[in-house]
Amino acid sequence: MRRSIITGTGSYLPKRIMTNDELADIVDTSDEWIQARSGIKQRHIAADGELTSDLGTQAALKAMEAAGLGPDDIDLVLVATATPDETFPATATTIQHKLGITGGFAFDVQAVCTGFIYALATADNFIKAGQVNRALVIGAETFSRILDWEDRTTCVLFADGAGALVLEASEEEGTNQDRGILTSHLHADGRHHDLLYVDGGPSSSQTTGYLRMEGREVFKHAVTNLANVVGEALDATGLNADDIDWLIPHQANKRIIDGTGRKLKMDPAKVVVTVDKHGNTSAASVPLALDEAVRDGRVTKGDLLLLEAMGGGFTWGSALVRF
Ligand code: UT7
Repeated sequence: MRRSIITGTGSYLPKRIMTNDELADIVDTSDEWIQARSGIKQRHIAADGELTSDLGTQAALKAMEAAGLGPDDIDLVLVATATPDETFPATATTIQHKLGITGGFAFDVQAVCTGFIYALATADNFIKAGQVNRALVIGAETFSRILDWEDRTTCVLFADGAGALVLEASEEEGTNQDRGILTSHLHADGRHHDLLYVDGGPSSSQTTGYLRMEGREVFKHAVTNLANVVGEALDATGLNADDIDWLIPHQANKRIIDGTGRKLKMDPAKVVVTVDKHGNTSAASVPLALDEAVRDGRVTKGDLLLLEAMGGGFTWGSALVRF
């Protein structure tokens, strides 16, 4: 059976770190409130002129280096982002160019915080269909550019960063012991638009707009949807929560992550958490967390990973991957 296996990961964070205390100088908040409600201690913010494509390119270079591949080897560049450099062309084509890739095809995937799971599933399906052999899947965001820095309910949560991985076609046995993406599950429900959206866009306001969120309502949906979608991945494969070596969740809120971990009865030591250092980097958060756990030696070849995310739309999804 043709599977898509991860052969390299990479990530990049802008140099500038912003602490909770710095935010307390801008809006009426405190380090204590931010840590207690979200688990966030600090976040990275892109420099002036540093674009989503710059972050994504750096992460992709590291993933390609880890996979031992050069620009001529890649036939698909997929970028999950809700903060593209420009309305068009796709940031994926800009990154493709910055990487010196001239073959294959490239496009953006827009599913906000679930974007990376959507992009991973999309690349997996192109590979399984035999249309692509080696895909670069990137999550890259500069959410600092769409934050209302006077809105304390949102500006303390989101941040900038990028993560990437290389997916390569491999002939496997067709069992749960295979390396690669074993299953993926995507969902959307557009009825919840008003709970998490950006109040601008080329067709509506001809402005970029700012992120608006009813955090408490999003929180409730996130807990339920994520519990359902991780259950769905296990049911589809017949695997149990005990089989999971690492839960690599979207990093929106430590309390949501803990809730999903409890639901799966997972040892908290088996849950990769980066929200404390990165904040919510939207589509970049899952590949950033994965790369951190690969590079510090926690995630090793053969480990079973459960990835999940939930975001604006609403969108949500999961993937079970044997690394
Ligand atoms: O990645 C996409 C998906 N997004 C998410 O998953 C985010 C989901 N939501 C959350 O993570 C949480 O709902 C938040 C972290 C956004 C908020 O935590 P909460 O426990 O739901 O707090 P809350 O919204 O119920 O607000 C509690 C209080 C309110 O005051 P009152 O109405 O109780 O007097 C807020 O006005 O905290 C106030 N508040 C703040 N206080 C200090 C809201 N933001 C702040 C702030 N600093 N930054």
